[in-house]
Amino acid sequence: MNRVLVTGAAGYIGSHLSAQLVAAGRRVVALDDLSAGRRATLPATLAFVEGDIADRDLVAQIIREHRIDALVHLAAHVQVAESVARPGKYHRNNVLGALNLLQACIDGGVTRAVFSSSAAVYGAPTRSPVAETAPTIPINPYGAGKLFVEWMLRDLAGATMAGRAPLRFVALRYFNVAGARAGGGLGQVAAPGKATHLIKVACEAATGARPGMEVFGADYPTADGTCVRDFIHVDDLAAAHIGALDYLANGGGNATLNCGYGRGHSVRDVIACVKAVSGADFPVTVAARRPGDPPELVADNAALRRAFDWTPQHDDLEAICRSAYQWECQLAERAQPSQRSPAAARAG
Ligand code: UFG
Repeated sequence: MNRVLVTGAAGYIGSHLSAQLVAAGRRVVALDDLSAGRRATLPATLAFVEGDIADRDLVAQIIREHRIDALVHLAAHVQVAESVARPGKYHRNNVLGALNLLQACIDGGVTRAVFSSSAAVYGAPTRSPVAETAPTIPINPYGAGKLFVEWMLRDLAGATMAGRAPLRFVALRYFNVAGARAGGGLGQVAAPGKATHLIKVACEAATGARPGMEVFGADYPTADGTCVRDFIHVDDLAAAHIGALDYLANGGGNATLNCGYGRGHSVRDVIACVKAVSGADFPVTVAARRPGDPPELVADNAALRRAFDWTPQHDDLEAICRSAYQWECQLAERAQPSQRSPAAARAG
């Protein structure tokens, strides 16, 4: 049976993936430095190591002790705007850290890797939906770092060494990951006032955790002037990783695949949807464009559908926003258990 090392397992996507892997009876070792993730989000039965992906000795030890044969590499800094302001921080962790990790994996005999790449590798594509064959011209350091790791994987996989099976990989290019586990208990966590992702920010405004929100730019060349994104539910994305692991275990070759539903929603559509599912009206103001934001990012997902048996279960903006809002209500409730907000009461 596969023994999978999941880096960044205690983060938003990692916690949903870990829950699915454990539920499917897979053996998982979680590696996370807990800089953004939380240990409590992981199943108690799962082997957990607190540490840095760049620590080759540590990774080598984990591979030896747990006899790891597949890697899912999720650990990364993930905020586009921060990457523009602090490129060194991003390249050190997302690129150099990944190189150390991959080298330790190859040296340890791991032959299968699933990598969390991003639609940010496309930059501002001129065609929508965008296919994997489109030019990759990232417009921010976050996207550049993800593309560089894709290239490293390609090069490492191409370098065959005598007596060793070559590395094979699947790079999953995530579009906009959103939502929370339907049954509750898992979702995206951010320090107060620090959330940046659109649906989370809107849900915080709906619960009253923030006074309102801003739309970053209403003068884009899109139907309503705001940016358009392809929002994929985190549980459907997690399921794509399991598809990728099975595909590699069955001998599948290197693949780079978009992960999105193939449908775009504008920033204004999303805010209206969060207002509708929450029943809360909150102030929204138009602000300047945010550096590094492309006008439209929508996935052509035909290759993903062809490669694995991946059938989305949550392809519905309303369901995504509702699950994200319910999670936000749980967080608000935990923060102030004695003062149940009207929003929390509405969410049940
Ligand atoms: N937005 C607002 N107000 C907010 C937050 C966001 O108007 O308070 C807008 C942004 O300007 C952008 C859109 O909502 O136009 C989506 O922004 P997010 O921050 O939610 O997501 P991004 O599209 O910037 O980035 C996300 C991930 C990246 C990934 C990218 C790929 O954070 O890791 O999707 O599509 F690379």
